[in-house]
Amino acid sequence: MIIYAMRSYPLAVLVLLAASAGARVAADKATMRAALVSAATIRVREVAQPVAGPGQVLVRIRYAGVNPADWKSAGGKPEEPMARAPEAIPGVDGSGVIAALGRGVVGYKIGDPVIVWSPTGGTYAQYVAVATDSIAHKPDSLSFAEAAGVAHAGLAAWNMLIDQAGVRAGQSVLVLGGAGGVGSAAVQIAKLKGARVIATASARNADYLKSLGADTVFDYTTQHFEDQLRNIDIAINTVDVDDAYRALAVVRRGGYLLSSVGLPAAGQCAARVVTCADRSRNGTPVHLVLQQIADWSQAGRFKVNVDRSFALSEVLQAWQYSQAGHTRGKSVIRIDD
Ligand SMILES: NC(=O)c1ccc[n+]([C@@H]2O[C@H](COP(=O)([O-])OP(=O)(O)OC[C@H]3O[C@@H](n4cnc5c(N)ncnc54)[C@H](OP(=O)(O)O)[C@@H]3O)[C@@H](O)[C@H]2O)c1
Repeated sequence: MIIYAMRSYPLAVLVLLAASAGARVAADKATMRAALVSAATIRVREVAQPVAGPGQVLVRIRYAGVNPADWKSAGGKPEEPMARAPEAIPGVDGSGVIAALGRGVVGYKIGDPVIVWSPTGGTYAQYVAVATDSIAHKPDSLSFAEAAGVAHAGLAAWNMLIDQAGVRAGQSVLVLGGAGGVGSAAVQIAKLKGARVIATASARNADYLKSLGADTVFDYTTQHFEDQLRNIDIAINTVDVDDAYRALAVVRRGGYLLSSVGLPAAGQCAARVVTCADRSRNGTPVHLVLQQIADWSQAGRFKVNVDRSFALSEVLQAWQYSQAGHTRGKSVIRIDD
């Protein structure tokens, strides 16, 4: 048995116990390989396959997308409404092929390649059962690895920019953390909506951000964006609360500060007449957002950069890489090629 110990918080107590046998799976049930978090360990083990319920499809997962939400939830700080079962399979993002249809499913057939968002987790596995209102057809333009990086970040960026801030052509949009998963999606969506896009990243990501449509890139290691910007219509913050306070200083009266990583004190937002809000769960239905992003991708107008690809047995390495905070675009976990 291989055991990897994690050093950095919040995975300090997690270890990966590789390839143990599926002792608790009933002999008559179909099984699958999955990463399982329980009692401060992650085990790759053989578990029972899920079954597609009414309105659900069973997807054979090819790649799972890695999100900070995965290791935050495993470390006891859930940011997603993941079921806190005694044992949980991480992963809200995935891509794969439909293997079975639940009762009442229309619009999909067995064999269809799909993009998956599974808000209750479960994509770090060979199969996941997910409602059809949480998937979209995978466009040919995206590989399975790229498609696994679409949903969680794309949904967050869409929610903040479109559902909440109502971005319009000609507006200025500041994306803090532009090179990450949410930031890369936000830069592209803002540009697609006709906004002028300013983003922050380290210098090594300047060309990447310009290729996504950023008009101006601030190197956060040498520049203070707040010294040079004023009257920004919409700020999207994916870095930290400190950046949220700095962004508040540059957003115009009546503008928006949307943050997926914490907000300034409500009184300070009110004093500056800025609408400050978190990513919310209300807005455009998930499948419509995923379909629009798929259509943009098919038209060559939306890209997903796959930074690293890890094996299922390398979940902790994938999480350590994500925790280091310098993923360019998305990292993925290879479940089945
Ligand atoms: N509440 C929600 O529903 C929700 C949804 C999605 C995400 N989130 C949260 O939003 C945050 C971002 O998620 P993500 O998936 O986009 O993360 P990510 O992909 O891991 O972000 C990594 C990126 O952050 C950039 N970065 C690091 N420090 C920076 C700084 N000081 N200034 C500017 N850029 C910096 C890095 O660029 P360099 O390599 O150039 O440094 C890297 O490209 C996470 O905390 C996540 O948990 C919340």
